[in-house]
Amino acid sequence: MSAVPVVFIHGFPLSKHSWDAQSAAVSVTRRAVAYDLRGFGQSPIGGVRVSMDVFADDLIALLDREKIERAVVCGLSMGGYIALNAIGRYPKRFAGLILCDTKSQADSAEAKAKRAATILTVKKEGVGPFADAFLTGVLRPETFKEHPAIVEAAKRIIMGNTSEGICAALQAMAERADTTEVLSKISVPSLVMVGENDTLTPPAAAESMAAAIRGAQLEIIPKAGHLSNLENPVEFNRRLTGWVQTNF
Ligand code: MLT
Repeated sequence: MSAVPVVFIHGFPLSKHSWDAQSAAVSVTRRAVAYDLRGFGQSPIGGVRVSMDVFADDLIALLDREKIERAVVCGLSMGGYIALNAIGRYPKRFAGLILCDTKSQADSAEAKAKRAATILTVKKEGVGPFADAFLTGVLRPETFKEHPAIVEAAKRIIMGNTSEGICAALQAMAERADTTEVLSKISVPSLVMVGENDTLTPPAAAESMAAAIRGAQLEIIPKAGHLSNLENPVEFNRRLTGWVQTNF
């Protein structure tokens, strides 16, 4: 297969398995690579203080290891923060960019304070109660009623992570730099996707991000909240594979 590979960066506090349905759909026509971020899934934190720079450097190390010169990089939420950091610092490694349910702005003072409180709660209560609270905050309410299997699968993924990895990523997100200036410098084909009911990084944020990237395509995923690829994989995959096939 000579088509450009797609590399998937998962959101917080998930793992590469959150991309299983997308990897399967994309790998019909090209190589798809999903990996566990440092401190998530099977990837040890390795005694490193994580940051968006470290996560982005890890992405480039993965491309080197996999002998991928240029990739279409697809990141959801925190994965999008990492992709924007990486394209700002390593633009030559990108053939295309897919930003899902994410934003370029850094945390507000209020958001940083909320992260600090969440770190304390996770350290005290462990991953289970945090997983439930997180999913209640990001999934659309209907997902709980209509698709309990999706909620269970997401919870299983979160429960596969450690409180150490979760707290390190919360700290890294609180400290991340604003990447809004990167948007106007992006010169590769770009797709912005967002769940219509995403309240964390809402469609309005996706619209302004898409407007700031030259030629970017915007896709609103119906019947989906913040975890749009998990909540509506059929619509998500249709738009993802269609765009990838058209552009690469
Ligand atoms: C994510 O889905 O990756 C995170 O919830 C993003 C965030 O907390 O800013």
